[in-house]
Amino acid sequence: MNREQRLAELRRRREQSLAGGGAERIARIHARGRLTARERLELLLDPGSFVEIGAFVTHRSTDFGMADKRVTGDGVVAGWGLVDGRMVYCFAQDFTVFGGTMSEANARKICAIQDLAMENGAPIVGLNDSGGARIQEGVASLGAYADVFLRNTLASGVVPQLSVIMGPCAGGAVYSPAITDFTIMVRETSHMFVTGPEVIKAVTAEEVSFEDLGGAMTHNTRSGVAHFAAADDADALRHARRLLSFLPGNYAEDAPKRLCTDPLDRRATELATLVPESPDKPYDMKELVRHVVDDGDFFEVHEHFAGNIIVGFARLNGRSVGIVGNQPRVLAGVLDIDSSVKAARFVRFCDAFGIPLVTFEDVPGFLPGTQQEWGGIIRHGAKLLYAYCEATVPKLTVVVRKAYGGAYDVMSSKHIRGDYNVGWPSAEMAVMGAEGAVNILYREELAKAKDPVAERRRLIAGYNEKFASPWIAAELGYLDDVIEPQDTRPRLIAALEMLRNKRQSLPAKKHGNPPL
Ligand code: HXC
Repeated sequence: MNREQRLAELRRRREQSLAGGGAERIARIHARGRLTARERLELLLDPGSFVEIGAFVTHRSTDFGMADKRVTGDGVVAGWGLVDGRMVYCFAQDFTVFGGTMSEANARKICAIQDLAMENGAPIVGLNDSGGARIQEGVASLGAYADVFLRNTLASGVVPQLSVIMGPCAGGAVYSPAITDFTIMVRETSHMFVTGPEVIKAVTAEEVSFEDLGGAMTHNTRSGVAHFAAADDADALRHARRLLSFLPGNYAEDAPKRLCTDPLDRRATELATLVPESPDKPYDMKELVRHVVDDGDFFEVHEHFAGNIIVGFARLNGRSVGIVGNQPRVLAGVLDIDSSVKAARFVRFCDAFGIPLVTFEDVPGFLPGTQQEWGGIIRHGAKLLYAYCEATVPKLTVVVRKAYGGAYDVMSSKHIRGDYNVGWPSAEMAVMGAEGAVNILYREELAKAKDPVAERRRLIAGYNEKFASPWIAAELGYLDDVIEPQDTRPRLIAALEMLRNKRQSLPAKKHGNPPL
């Protein structure tokens, strides 16, 4: 071959690789409202920044007529690029090539990306759209998945890992996203399940649609498997970019600092009256958070799941913080199984990546009932306790209203190494609320009382006078201060600055044994 011929060969192969599974298959996925792997990567990354590896890889199978069916690239586009100028490693499964299925050859590209990301300390974003294990390859394809799962696990806590589900993600394939830190699903066009509707029907006689079984809203509202539900492919990739803007490239790096134009000493007057006078009336914890953080910008994670707790990212003085808040609007902000697990995973993520935690507390306790007890609220609630105890990042806590029972200890209390814990004057901190306490402490007096209703009212008032306040906690030093609500933003910013160089370690061990 002369020089021209070699160049022509390169161009021919490059064109083949760019063509994926061909115009017809591309038209088919476009017709379903989906984009191609390359179109998705273009939207994920800064324009022109994508650099591909393994573009010419093909599989080596010969069985089932595969020897004659080789497509350059083999169903996954992998490489690196920039998001807001910062390095990101990424891969996108190409559904137009063998249904984006996992082969021994294309898994090696994904593994290479995972290895590069770990070695160089930058996030991995996987765009999933695949029929799962490539049937023609048998156990080689299963082995390929295991190679990816291993790296997902090794990368956990080293670099942030994001999964965007943009088509089918079935069978064991779901365990790669499940190990990663965040899962974004596209409404209507993405589905995740271990066994599909047909298998379920055969085994259990249950009939369920793809959407009900494993659609975006199912996993965002019921299972908690997904953290975000996006309107379409472009929206999902916008979510990924925004999420990355709050995260460091790796565990040893600081999250990017933004220029903060929101005054650091801003006293949000709205906070003075946000909490209702009556302790039983709800208010919106998200609104409270927005009044405190930079520019009112709160990027909520797991918005549709376990609404009794809110988690998400925001900035204070331009620095990323992880927000956790009990939500009085849903189940009075009580802690239950789902909310404990949701918050525990978020706390552990923030701790792994050095993102300070800011906790806004208004929790009446753990949810009573057989459903919760038999469902394991003891071990699930312990996950959140363990996560907060173990976290060594700066931990700031604002007791807004209720801090009752074991939930007081759990929600980043001083005793479990909260660094700066303050209460608002509306804080109520005690073993339990007045109603329950009076019933237990004064059962006999109430039984003998001439006017039990008036007596109960008097006893409740006395209990509240004593306990429904921040003052005992402040006197014991369990609160560092009691502050006016309007001072919350300036105080948190000052505390974060004070904790800039915080270094705290755990006792030497291989690893702990959290109540998984
Ligand atoms: C090989 C596959 C394939 C597979 C799809 N294709 N799944 N090829 N192995 N697992 C191919 C099809 O032959 C077709 O090729 C192309 O991909 C597109 O598939 P269609 O069926 O035409 O598309 P659609 O109608 O959109 O249906 C998509 C689908 C369906 C829902 C994903 O294909 C399907 O149910 N596939 C099987 C899914 C599955 O059971 N996978 C194994 C799960 S177990 P052509 O050439 O016509 O374009 C698993 C184990 C993982 O993954 C193990 C990890 C531990």
